[in-house]
Amino acid sequence: MDFHFEIVQDYMPFFLKGMALTVGVSLAGVLIGLLLGLLIALGKMSSNQWVRLPFNIYINVFRGTPLLVQLLIIHFGIVPLFMAQSNPVVSLVIGLSLNSAAYIAEIFRAGIQSIDKGQMEAARSLGMTRVQAMKLVILPQAVKRVIPPLGNEFIVLLKESSLGSVLAAPELMYWGQAAAGQYIRVWEPYLTVALIYLVLTLSLTYLMNYIERRMKTDDLR
Ligand code: ARG
Repeated sequence: MDFHFEIVQDYMPFFLKGMALTVGVSLAGVLIGLLLGLLIALGKMSSNQWVRLPFNIYINVFRGTPLLVQLLIIHFGIVPLFMAQSNPVVSLVIGLSLNSAAYIAEIFRAGIQSIDKGQMEAARSLGMTRVQAMKLVILPQAVKRVIPPLGNEFIVLLKESSLGSVLAAPELMYWGQAAAGQYIRVWEPYLTVALIYLVLTLSLTYLMNYIERRMKTDDLR
């Protein structure tokens, strides 16, 4: 097998541009997903079953259907209802955020429910309302426990954002396919793209491990 490094070299500026977009859309996806996810988690924990219902449906629909299908429906079906010119990057961010929100909601719910119920009872017995207790006592403790799974979610989104290539959003995978098509080569573009994803996810894993270690020592103080 001959490996043409010139192809990698020629396309490097595009791969790097694509990488920046990959990181950007994934970051936007988790951040928006974080906000939506928290609301959905709180909604799903309501004591009223009719309030819980729409949140349950949301989570089941977004987790139970492929992200690829969701992206195609959003980009070609829903966004055009609101915008004359649909932009694949916008559709990708919307899709990643909505999908991620469903997973993040469950991460938050697990985190909140893992806090001993005595904490809520103690806060309530001090005269706090349920909302105050949630905001001042439960959520600050839950946040620490959800950081590792949220890091995981970010890593998942980094890889899943490669589905943006089917919408022609110029992220990393898009440029990999462009190079593969232009040179009719497999190894050079796809191995390079895989390596860049690997560097991104390994760096994030490393960062997450560091944060986890820091949080542990914080607990000991
Ligand atoms: N490939 C999976 C799907 O199509 C990925 C779902 C995204 N996962 C996530 N944690 N946001 O459903």
